[in-house]
Amino acid sequence: EKGGYDHFMLKEIYEQARSIRDCLRGRIYAEKGKVQLGGIKEYADKIKNIDRIIIVACGTSWHAGLVGEYLIEEYARVSVEVEYASEFRYRNPIISEKDIVIAISQSGETADTMAALELAKEKGATIFGICNVVGASIPRITHAGVYTHAGPEIGVASTKAFTAQVTVLTLLAFYIAQVRGTMTKGKSIEYLTELTQIPELVEETLKCNDEVEAIAGVFKDASNCLFLGRGSSFPVALEGALKLKEISYIHAEGYPAAEMKHGPIALIDADLPVVFIATKNSSYEKVVSNIQEVKARGGRVIAIVTEGDTEVKGMADYVIEIPATNDAFVPLLATIPLQLLAYHIAVMRNCNVDQPRNLAKSVTVE
Ligand code: M6R
Repeated sequence: EKGGYDHFMLKEIYEQARSIRDCLRGRIYAEKGKVQLGGIKEYADKIKNIDRIIIVACGTSWHAGLVGEYLIEEYARVSVEVEYASEFRYRNPIISEKDIVIAISQSGETADTMAALELAKEKGATIFGICNVVGASIPRITHAGVYTHAGPEIGVASTKAFTAQVTVLTLLAFYIAQVRGTMTKGKSIEYLTELTQIPELVEETLKCNDEVEAIAGVFKDASNCLFLGRGSSFPVALEGALKLKEISYIHAEGYPAAEMKHGPIALIDADLPVVFIATKNSSYEKVVSNIQEVKARGGRVIAIVTEGDTEVKGMADYVIEIPATNDAFVPLLATIPLQLLAYHIAVMRNCNVDQPRNLAKSVTVE
């Protein structure tokens, strides 16, 4: 049932071209510049008039929410807040009928996420779910929602569910943009056409596996690791760090790259690998200078770069290339080498990759 792979996690990492394709299927009309999300279409008027969206989630799903925040604010120009469900539910949050609260949950059973939604519903908000498991508790209590269609995820470490969540949030950003008229038709056509290419680019990205495995061999004995990125690559850094810590038990932290000099820079030495997401996008030059700062302090750098990059190649110790794509879609590709890095390091450390210690696939108690 692992389809020839050693672990479910690796199988699920490799399924991502297919799972993203399934997630996009029937939802994009690129030549018309239109997104169709059947599950929420009755709420188009509501969406047109909202002031803000609140996203609630835990763990990896919360990271997907942060990517969603960048996308929705950028393209649909609606203010988004992303909250840990466990904090939100106990904080007496300010919610009104004007809000849309969106829960993101692979399992659809996470206790805190469920409770946060119930609270929002009680206060009159419209509640949506972005879930993977069809018919789970969260999709049953929401007013509407969008399934991720990633298929069953067995590995405790979430991989294909994360990229499917990000895919749905990308679609949602363009859908809201369409409803609110914040994007021209020409731009929509351009973005959606590129989005339909993403499954192929994921396929391309997966070819980095052997290279990533070799890099894993170099860093497998590290006791700490830092992941840095800016913009929507910041949540990708958080996700890379979570993957590594949960399956290999190496302490890892994700940070916005610019925050480095506000504390973490004190940690930099030859024993602390620093993973940068340094793709060619709007914050590229700034990330390049962050890499220089790490190198100047004797740090060792692994960088995820855009194919053909020469500048970062000249300064990083190791680079992993991913195909060029629009800023909006970088998280879908940049996450993949980080999943593979965590996977190979965990295997080399003889860890139980699919069932890490102390963790459960769905957290149904708070
Ligand atoms: O099922 P959910 O998406 O609600 O689960 C939330 C988290 O427990 C989950 O994402 C967790 O962080 C993963 N094990 C991370 O790989």
